[in-house]
Amino acid sequence: MGINLGDVFPDFTANTTKGSISFHSFLGDSWGILFSHPADFTPVCTTELGRVNQLLAEFEKRNVKPIALSCDPVDKHSDWIKDIQAYSAQSGDWGYPIIADEQRELAVRFGMLDPDEKDKAGMPLTARCVFIIGPDKKLKLSLLYPASTGRNFDEIIRVIDSLQLTAYKKVATPVNWQQGGECMVLPSVKPEDAKTLFPEHYTKELPSGKGYMRFTPQP
Ligand code: BEZ
Repeated sequence: MGINLGDVFPDFTANTTKGSISFHSFLGDSWGILFSHPADFTPVCTTELGRVNQLLAEFEKRNVKPIALSCDPVDKHSDWIKDIQAYSAQSGDWGYPIIADEQRELAVRFGMLDPDEKDKAGMPLTARCVFIIGPDKKLKLSLLYPASTGRNFDEIIRVIDSLQLTAYKKVATPVNWQQGGECMVLPSVKPEDAKTLFPEHYTKELPSGKGYMRFTPQP
């Protein structure tokens, strides 16, 4: 099943390391990031899940709830968490749930499988999929990396900042934008509205004369 940007992300129930969850209730009014990884006790995944746990305060600041998924059972996830914490020099309560998709139902339903990576039984593993879901439960962004390429969760925080600027402040973010950098007025904002919404904005003139390059300090 393909999920397109703007679609309501399907609700589902699942067993997780924090008990059974119903996805939409778990999200509540928050943003969510659902990310899959190939398997427990694998090296790249261990680095990724540790990094997400280190970034929990950053996710919380942005009202984003992380939730991971792999096709291993809950007890294996729980054992693995000890390794992840030791590797990433963390201790105490584990901060976010890991879904146990043992039957690969969600992985198949959400197109997360990587046909090139198989487990010992020859079953395809989940790839490194990321879904970012807004408080309206709609899909705002999706990424799909192969199993062998670890994701950059600092970049994912940057992307969330961009998504939230668009959602709440009507700006887009240009190439290589970083927090605090100059933004761009959304093309859908009419010139007369841009004047009041973004009093400091300016238009970069180009040969076409179309006036579409409208920059503003980050609102
Ligand atoms: C890993 O997490 O290290 C990994 C898993 C499957 C294929 C390649 C790398």
